[in-house]
Amino acid sequence: MSNNIEGKVVVITGASSGLGEATARLLSEEGATVVLGARRANRIQSLADELTRSGGKALAVATDVTHCDQVKRLVDAAVQKYGRIDVMINNAGLMPHSPLERLKIDDWNQTIDVNIKGVLYGIAAALPYMKQQKAGHIINVSSVAGHKVRPGSAVYAATKHAVRALSEGLRQEVKPYNIRTTVISPGAVATELPNSVTEPDVAENIRKFYEEFAISSDSFARAVAFAMSQPEEVDVNEILFRPTRQEL
Ligand SMILES: NC(=O)c1ccc[n+]([C@@H]2O[C@H](COP(=O)([O-])OP(=O)(O)OC[C@H]3O[C@@H](n4cnc5c(N)ncnc54)[C@H](OP(=O)(O)O)[C@@H]3O)[C@@H](O)[C@H]2O)c1
Repeated sequence: MSNNIEGKVVVITGASSGLGEATARLLSEEGATVVLGARRANRIQSLADELTRSGGKALAVATDVTHCDQVKRLVDAAVQKYGRIDVMINNAGLMPHSPLERLKIDDWNQTIDVNIKGVLYGIAAALPYMKQQKAGHIINVSSVAGHKVRPGSAVYAATKHAVRALSEGLRQEVKPYNIRTTVISPGAVATELPNSVTEPDVAENIRKFYEEFAISSDSFARAVAFAMSQPEEVDVNEILFRPTRQEL
């Protein structure tokens, strides 16, 4: 029986580490063709090489998601090489938590540019193809912070609330085109994300929290596979998951 993953062309932003990398590995194992975008070209190229050596199909395209033209180039490369795009996973993100009073305005701008505009650019790049195909699946990555706000997380939480709002608007608008939309909101998952915190005291606290609570990035990859593998008429719109021990 088809897993509804095999043979699909899946573009993943932020595929050089963490959730994106784990998802590329799992979907490749399940028979998907994966097109990997991130700024660290060496990392995505060696992942693509590794997946290809294991019998998969993978392409790496250096991409900074804060540039609309680069995200378009990533998606265009997928369509040029493989003929279509079935799934767009807007996953690239960063989490430079800090209290607002510290006025980390560069961090705020970067967080908004990557976490919100990057997702919009992914939608802009994939939607014209999916409309034409009358098929497709857009998966956006929010967070528990898209549901809850805590001191120090205001800007990050605002971006992740925005991802949920965008995803819900998208869901309603793409009905005529047979496009599925999923927003996935993870709790603490062990990745390189805490490295994006620029304030040393905040970074220390987050590292301790992640050391104690974070679960493996396979948890996220399995959530993606679950949403993808449903029959085409089933649209899994939201998944929220946490480590079993995480209270917040
Ligand atoms: N880990 C968690 O606990 C957790 C929980 C909830 C939500 N999330 C969300 O999950 C997503 C993935 O994060 P992660 O946990 O896997 O962290 P990660 O290991 O730090 O991965 C982040 C990815 O985003 C990419 N990225 C950052 N800025 C980029 C840019 N300007 N252009 C292109 N790619 C960029 C990074 O690649 P390059 O640096 O190579 O560009 C990297 O591949 C993020 O949206 C994050 O907010 C994570």
